Amino acid sequence: MSKSFRILASVAMAATLAATSACSSTRDSEETSGGSTSNLVGIAMPTRSLERWNNDGAHLDDLLKKAGYTTSLQYADNKVDQQITQLENMINQNAKVLVVASIDGTALGPVLEKAANAKIKVIAYDRLINATPNVDYYATFDNYLVGKLQGEFIVDKLGLKDGKGPFNLEPFAGSSDDNNAKFFFNGAWDVLKPYVESGKLVIPSGKKLVGEEDWKTISITGWKSETAQAEMDNRINSFYTGGKKVNVVLSPNDSLALGIAQSLESKGYKPGADYPLITGQDADLANTKNILADKQAMTVWKDTRTLGDQVAKMVDATVKGTAVETNDDKTYNNGVKVVPAYLLPPVVVVKDDVKTKLVDSGFYTADKLGL
Ligand code: BGC
Repeated sequence: MSKSFRILASVAMAATLAATSACSSTRDSEETSGGSTSNLVGIAMPTRSLERWNNDGAHLDDLLKKAGYTTSLQYADNKVDQQITQLENMINQNAKVLVVASIDGTALGPVLEKAANAKIKVIAYDRLINATPNVDYYATFDNYLVGKLQGEFIVDKLGLKDGKGPFNLEPFAGSSDDNNAKFFFNGAWDVLKPYVESGKLVIPSGKKLVGEEDWKTISITGWKSETAQAEMDNRINSFYTGGKKVNVVLSPNDSLALGIAQSLESKGYKPGADYPLITGQDADLANTKNILADKQAMTVWKDTRTLGDQVAKMVDATVKGTAVETNDDKTYNNGVKVVPAYLLPPVVVVKDDVKTKLVDSGFYTADKLGL
C-alpha cells in the first residue's frame, strides 16, 4: 500500500468513525456530569518495553479520540495484577468497551466477569483471552501464518527442498502464557518438522519437540531479550564445542531475535562469514537495522496500524450495536467458546524490501533507518 493511500485510508477511517459518533460530545458531557451513558473505551496494553505495543496503543488511542470517544490507555509493565487493576478501574469508570492485549491469556476470567455484569463488551487485541465466555471479539494477525512464513523462509533459504543439509538449528518459542506463542511455533514447526525427521535439520542442543506441549520447553517467559540471550549463550557453551557452528535459529519474534543476535556476536559469529540465519517478527526498529546490517535474515511484519484501524471499527460497531465485521469463526477456541475473529495478513520483510515495504508504506522514515 502506498504512503499516500495509507494516509488517505486513515483519514477516511477517522472521518467515518467521527461521522457515526456524532453525538459523542453530548455523551461526554453527560459522563462528566455523572450520567451513565459514558463513551469511554478502555485500552489495556501489556508493556511499554516492546516497541510495537507503544505504536499499537498510540495509534488506536488516536483513532478513537478522533472519532469522538473518550479513552483510557493503560500499560501494565507485563504485570498481570497491574493489568487486572487497570481493567477494574475502567469498569468502575463505566467504560463501554474494553480492548485488551492480555499479558496472561488465562488470568482475566474474574475481572471480565465483572465487565460482563456491567454490560461492557470486550475485544481481545492481538492475543486471545482464554477460559472465559466474556470475550466478544478478537482481532489479530494470522498467528499460525506468521510461524509458517518463518518456517518456509528457512526451508527456502537453506535449499532444504533441494536436499541440502544437514544444518544445525536452534529453535526458540515465545512466552507460554501468551496464546499466540503456540500458534507461532506450530506454524513454523509444521513446515520444519519433516526436515528434522529426515536429519536435514539437526538440533545439537537436543531439544525434543515431538509432543503437543513440548514447545513449552523452549519458551522464553515474558518474551525477554535478556532471557533469550542467556539461553543462546548456554546452548552455545554447552553444545557448540570443537568448532561446531549454529547455522539457523528459529526465533518467533524480534525481541528474542535481538538477544539471540547479541549472544551470537559475543561468541564471535560474523555477518557475511559464519553468521546464522535468524528469523523474527514485528519489524521493530533495532531489528530492521539488524536486517540491513545482515544480523537478522528476516522479520514477519505486522502493520499494527491496520490492526488499530480494524479494532477502531469494531469498537464503533459494538457501541452502536451494528454488525461487527469478522472473517474467521472457527480458529480461535478459547476453551469456552470460539471467539469470532478478524485476522489480518502478516508480510515477510527481508533486506531487499525494507525500503519498498517499510519505508514506502510510511511505517518508518528512511532517516530513522539510516537509509
Ligand atoms: C505478539 C507479537 C509480539 C509478542 C511479544 C505477541 O503476542 O503477537 O507481535 O512480538 O507478543 O510482545
